Amino acid sequence: MNNTDFLDKLHSRYATKAMNGEIVPQDKIDRILEAIRLAPTSSGLQPFEVFVITNADIKAKIREIAWNQPQVTDCSHLLVFTAWDNYTPERINHMFDLTNEIRGFKNEGWENYRQFLLKMYAKKPAEENFQHTAKQTYIAFMSAIMQAEYEGVDCTPMEGFDANALDKILNLAEKNLRSTLLLPLGYRDADNDWLVNLKKVRKPMSELVSVID
Ligand SMILES: Cc1cc2nc3c(=O)[nH]c(=O)nc-3n(C[C@H](O)[C@H](O)[C@H](O)COP(=O)(O)O)c2cc1C
Repeated sequence: MNNTDFLDKLHSRYATKAMNGEIVPQDKIDRILEAIRLAPTSSGLQPFEVFVITNADIKAKIREIAWNQPQVTDCSHLLVFTAWDNYTPERINHMFDLTNEIRGFKNEGWENYRQFLLKMYAKKPAEENFQHTAKQTYIAFMSAIMQAEYEGVDCTPMEGFDANALDKILNLAEKNLRSTLLLPLGYRDADNDWLVNLKKVRKPMSELVSVID
């Protein structure tokens, strides 16, 4: 891989405004989901779950509470990112136990860190913990967006929806999850996409980066 390949993909990716309903092959979807699974998260806790929605009725219901954005129904697969509504001992212990199982050993430093996290998160209000788990979904979101670009699959990052209403549609409260993001995956409908041929707009580097030597 050339060291400008990733930048080329960042240039060519865009937030698709119209999709044509064409189905994305399952192997591409699987690799996009794998990119989500491999995303880094704070303490490696992966405090989120992703729902893959292809059901037309559910997509239509979600579109109603997502500013009527057409990509929600015209996509092939609609990814819904959801985050833990709180950190709990069960959730934290599960990931630490899994680490020990996969690596095949227990380590005192790691076990001390487990106790540190258990105490730290137990002290914080659920809403504060949710704000932290929600941030983790944004990292995995970007991982999915970039893998989609490598797969030649278009997508639209979306925060434009009523999260409480979506939580109800997917019964997320009973899973102790809350929705954070939508990612319709599909193929552009270039004739009806107002953004497809417009120049990408980004601030110059000088407005974004300060170097402190
Ligand atoms: C967190 C997040 C939420 C967004 N929500 C929406 C959305 O609800 N609908 C939409 O059409 N675009 C949405 N966008 C797309 C942005 O408007 C878009 O990425 C930005 O204008 C830059 O354009 P580009 O992605 O085509 O380079 C969102 C992007 C991000 C990162």
